[in-house]
Amino acid sequence: MDDQQDPAPGTESATGAPSPAGDPEEARRAAIVDSLPRASDDTPLLAELQLDARRRIELRGRKFPRPPRTRVITVANQKGGVGKTTTTVNLAAALAQAGLQVLVLDNDPQGNASTALGIEHRAGTPSIYEVLVDGAPMHEAVQQSPDVPGLWCLPATIDLSGAEIELVSMVARETRLRTALDNYLTWRTDNGHERIDYVFVDCPPSLGLLTVNAFVVAREVLIPIQCEYYALEGLSQLLKTIDLIQAHLNPRLAVSTILLTMYDARTNLAQQVAEEVRTHFPEQTLRTTVPRSVRISEAPSYGQTVITYDGSSSGALAYLEAARELAERAVQATTRTDGVPVPATPAQEDQ
Ligand SMILES: Nc1ncnc2c1ncn2[C@@H]1O[C@H](COP(=O)(O)OP(=O)(O)O)[C@@H](O)[C@H]1O
Ligand SMILES: [Mg+2]
Repeated sequence: MDDQQDPAPGTESATGAPSPAGDPEEARRAAIVDSLPRASDDTPLLAELQLDARRRIELRGRKFPRPPRTRVITVANQKGGVGKTTTTVNLAAALAQAGLQVLVLDNDPQGNASTALGIEHRAGTPSIYEVLVDGAPMHEAVQQSPDVPGLWCLPATIDLSGAEIELVSMVARETRLRTALDNYLTWRTDNGHERIDYVFVDCPPSLGLLTVNAFVVAREVLIPIQCEYYALEGLSQLLKTIDLIQAHLNPRLAVSTILLTMYDARTNLAQQVAEEVRTHFPEQTLRTTVPRSVRISEAPSYGQTVITYDGSSSGALAYLEAARELAERAVQATTRTDGVPVPATPAQEDQ
């Protein structure tokens, strides 16, 4: 559980940034957190309850900082069932709930992100398919979340399953999503809508043209890693693909963030996987881990994220904390996948 513990209250935020000195709101939160009794290592259940209590105090009603520019983050891992969609929708909802404007591009024919966000995506609904294949303007298909203000979604319908093949013979087949998003962001400002702060692209479990489009549209890649056996298998193929995209299509792409999901602190295996990931990606791996949680897996069947379904559950609090970490830590020195450190610039300079 150590890696889930908050730092000492009043000294640092979860991300190591000093709290603004003299901020009465921060001081009030710190005082309440300080008054909680401390659990010892031999009372894991109590420790977990206390961690949740501290997170609730730390996170409730907190506004997250706006990034200087729109950050476009592709959530990718060619393995299925590792938590890509869950991470996409819950980080998006957490950031929107904290006052930011967030757009989710559902780029998976299964449309699971659309489902979890309660967004209409029956066959025939204007969707990412029309945007990619017909060149339709994105604003004609983007829908607003029924539950969270500031949260938007470009849905995926079953039509998208044909797009992978249809795209092959098309002009500019790798850059179609990027062009569409650029136009959409401009359309928003031209039409008096607020600037989008975060764009998340949910990817299918493959490295085909849909995923290539997602790598070309983004500046950052977020890789969710499930803390289980074989977790790192296939990762090198993913990193090689990202290197190829960097070399040929999008030189500014970098793996900025890794999130450990379905983490069970009681098993040695989860701890070993976490340790290995942190050794390989010390800068990118978020301190927050997402526990295995029934509430997280139940939420999509109600067309909800866990943030709206049960905002005070451990799973929701973990995603809120991960979102805070993502929002607060500057993308300072990120490391290229070949291990060469490169100075990072905030995403989407040109947008
Ligand atoms: N932290 C978690 N705790 C419990 N179940 C989870 C968690 N994260 C994801 N799941 C469940 O695991 C399954 C796969 O997750 P999903 O996000 O759809 O993966 P992917 O998009 O990578 O295929 C889903 O049924 C989801 O509800
Ligand atoms: Mg998915």
